[in-house]
Amino acid sequence: MNIPLLSAITLIGTSFSVGAFAQSQITVNPVSMVNQFEATNGKFEGYRRSGAKGICANGEFTGSPEGRALSVASVFSGKPIPVVVRFSVGGANPKAADNTKSQRNMSLQFTLPNGEQWLMGNISAPVFGSATPQQLMASLAARQPDPATKAPDPAKIKAFTDANPEVLLQGKYLASQPVPASFGSVNYWGVHAFSFTNPSGVKQFGKWVFEPVNGTQGLSDEEAKEKGGNFLFDDLRQRVKSGKVAFNFNLELAQPGDKLDDATVPLPEGRKKINLGVLKVTSVSDDDKGACLTVNFNPMVMPKGVEPSNDPMLSARAAPYAVALGRRLSEGAKQ
Ligand code: HEM
Repeated sequence: MNIPLLSAITLIGTSFSVGAFAQSQITVNPVSMVNQFEATNGKFEGYRRSGAKGICANGEFTGSPEGRALSVASVFSGKPIPVVVRFSVGGANPKAADNTKSQRNMSLQFTLPNGEQWLMGNISAPVFGSATPQQLMASLAARQPDPATKAPDPAKIKAFTDANPEVLLQGKYLASQPVPASFGSVNYWGVHAFSFTNPSGVKQFGKWVFEPVNGTQGLSDEEAKEKGGNFLFDDLRQRVKSGKVAFNFNLELAQPGDKLDDATVPLPEGRKKINLGVLKVTSVSDDDKGACLTVNFNPMVMPKGVEPSNDPMLSARAAPYAVALGRRLSEGAKQ
């Protein structure tokens, strides 16, 4: 069962450890998973198999006193921490349009002074579209284009979504929101629960969201049409130049009984929210370049003082991301 995971990781020579806990939860072969991504969403050589249209940026994170009280993680020290940022549009198509109500992503790599890293890939919805890796595989398979018609079979999709209604929640949320005016003006959620250990050893679970310091901003349908399909990169450059792109790193605190192992279920409304610090985006790289190009945003890499929850989707991300990285590196990584 664990052999595909281990060989996938060894194959590309990455050095992260997924741990016995994560390995015990891998129940979908990561190579089959990435093959299914390609079969359903298309294969675009060199590009990420999800979030393909992206741009690299750099930033700085400064932790807050509330962050230090919550967790011993060095990221919250209050000293500026360099962060590699990648913004992207959802999907496998590197030419995806910027002016639709699809997902936006913000991936982060915090480089900590003691040699640790924190990696995360956050999305512009409070929930993900599958609760388990098996459900994700089945969902992708249901939407795979029919070889004869080159289009997905609506009857197959309906049968799948009727039996798995929670897979529609993410899409419903995105459809209810306006097209984001900017990568810098939309909320990005982590969707999984993580636990944070304070200086006395007490653990607190929570789910995080990065919220723009200047508030969210969307486009009307008319404005979105006028902007066209390629405005997000230039918009980001302009806003970052004027120092306007910053996010509050906020954590919603879980209470006993809250569901912590399901990325399709947000914490109940009204949970206390604390501010862990501020992420400021300070520069944007040229298209096709930048520090993020070959970064694998494996969300199982986190600093001491932060731990994963038992969400099966969280641990199941590590190996397919490594497989996808291996493929795009061997094809020549593109952005
Ligand atoms: C078993 C579950 C999942 C699988 C198999 C999967 C698979 C993938 C793959 C193959 C990539 C491309 C990686 C690359 O080429 O470097 C990717 C990217 C991404 N995924 Fe997932 N994913 C899963 C769950 C999730 C969840 C729950 C989230 C929600 C936060 C998420 C958010 C992202 C983001 C933000 C990216 C873009 C990362 C970047 O900028 O490189 N994924 N995913």
